[in-house]
Formats: sequence, structure tokens, C-alpha cells
Amino acid sequence: MEEKIALVTGASRGIGSQIAKTLAKKNIFVVVNYSGSKEKAEQTAEEIINAGGKAVVYGCDISDFYATEEIVKQYGRLDILINNAGITKDNLIMRMSEADFDRVIEVNLKGAFNTIHAAARQMIRQKSGKIVNIASVSGVLGNAGQANYAAAKAGIIGLTKTIAREFAGRNIQVNAVAPGFIETDMTEKLSDTIREQATQQIPMKKFGHPEDVAEAVAFLTSDAASYITGQVLCVDGGMAM
Ligand code: NAI
Repeated sequence: MEEKIALVTGASRGIGSQIAKTLAKKNIFVVVNYSGSKEKAEQTAEEIINAGGKAVVYGCDISDFYATEEIVKQYGRLDILINNAGITKDNLIMRMSEADFDRVIEVNLKGAFNTIHAAARQMIRQKSGKIVNIASVSGVLGNAGQANYAAAKAGIIGLTKTIAREFAGRNIQVNAVAPGFIETDMTEKLSDTIREQATQQIPMKKFGHPEDVAEAVAFLTSDAASYITGQVLCVDGGMAM
């Protein structure tokens, strides 16, 4: 059997880095994408290689349509695509600049369109593929102060369901994972007050860890999930039930 290849966007740290490591443990060759932090991406790849896995790093801003196309061309095969790269630029709507709205949509939503557009041709040719898009509970429930982010993540859910329908007959499954509050650099910047308020909203009364999200992603990319498509799996301690 040919070796499976996965592309994980924004895999230099946090959830993406953990997804890359978890997939590599399942004997999947991982392309660790990064945009700014080359060193951290190399560190992720090194950890994978030291643990006996296979990985390469590939730098590119996923909001760049043409640059994204090149990643897929580079390896000639793509079995798994994980759209994980994401940013926040939070503010109340009245204080949110147009630039901050646009940039979050460009990276979090358009970025996923770019990679899917590039990957789809390859997966159709291979007659198989698994795509997992990382959404957020903010896209399911809405969240004050995150109009740009919640709109992008709700968009990711619409994109997931639509692409799932388009590819359902081609042996390509497309699902989304919607994390709640997960301990990463992204949530590190939350103030103590926000963190406390957030914890109160979580039925399990605690933040999750990147491993919790990575295991859900690994399941959705495995053969065990072959009959699952177009779903949104919330990994959120019960927030969005
Ligand atoms: P993080 O900020 O720790 O990591 C984000 C990664 O995306 C970084 O490696 C960054 O370099 C990369 N990235 C950013 N812009 C990029 C671009 N234009 N091109 C390529 N890579 C880019 O964030 P974290 O927490 O690991 O989040 C990962 C995903 O999970 C994001 O999509 C985020 O929205 C989502 N998420 C995170 C939650 C959390 O509580 N941490 C909750 C819900 C969703």
C-alpha cells in the first residue's frame, strides 16, 4: 500500500502541531505547513522524525491562492487535508476595523477554500480523500467580540457541508471539528476575567488540550470514519450541546 500523505496547515504550534504529531504516529507522512514561524515548524517535524515518523516543513501563507496550489503539486499525492491555520483579531463590532474583519476571513475561511480547491483535483484523481476543517464553537454559538472569527468559522461549517455533498459520491469525506476553549497560545492571551467567564460556560468546567482535538481529527481521517461526512464534531466539554 502506498504511504498516506497529510497536509496540516498552521502546524507550527498548538492544535495544528499536535494534529501533525498524532497523524504521524499512525504512519502518515505529514507536511507541516507554517506561515511565519519556521523554527517552530521545524521543531514539530523534528519531534515527529525523532519519534520514528516522517515529516517535512512547507512554508506558505494559506490565504495566498497560488502559493497554496503549489503545496499540493509538490508531493503529487494527498490523502488527508487538515485546515487548521487560524487567527483571531477580536473586538466588539463597533470597534472592529475593516482590515481586521477582512484578514480573519481571508485566513480562516478563504484559506480553507484555497487548500480544498487545490486538494480536490488530486483527491478526485486518486478516488479517495479525507478533509477535516477546524471550525470553532464560536461559529456554532456566536461569541460577543468575535464577529469576524465567528463569521469565518460559521462559514467553515457551511463550506464543510457543501463540499461534503459535492464529494460524497467520490469517496472523499469532509467533516469539521469545532473546538471549544483549548489551552494554546491563542487562548493564552485571554484575560483572567474572560478565562473565568469562559470556564463557567463549559459544562465540564475546564479548558481542553490540543490532544483532545487531535484525537477527534485522527478518528475522522481514519477508516473507522469512512461512512461519516458533512458532520461537525464539537470538542468543547459540552459547550455547544
Ligand atoms: P495558534 O495561534 O496556537 O496556532 C495557529 C497556527 O496557524 C499557527 O501555527 C500559525 O502560524 C498558523 N497560521 C496563522 N495564519 C496562517 C496563515 N496565513 N497561513 C498558514 N498558517 C497560518 O492557534 P490554535 O489555538 O492552535 O488554533 C488552531 C485552530 O483551532 C485555529 O483554526 C483556531 O481558530 C481553532 N480553534 C482554537 C481554539 C482554542 O481554544 N485554541 C478554539 C476553537 C477553534
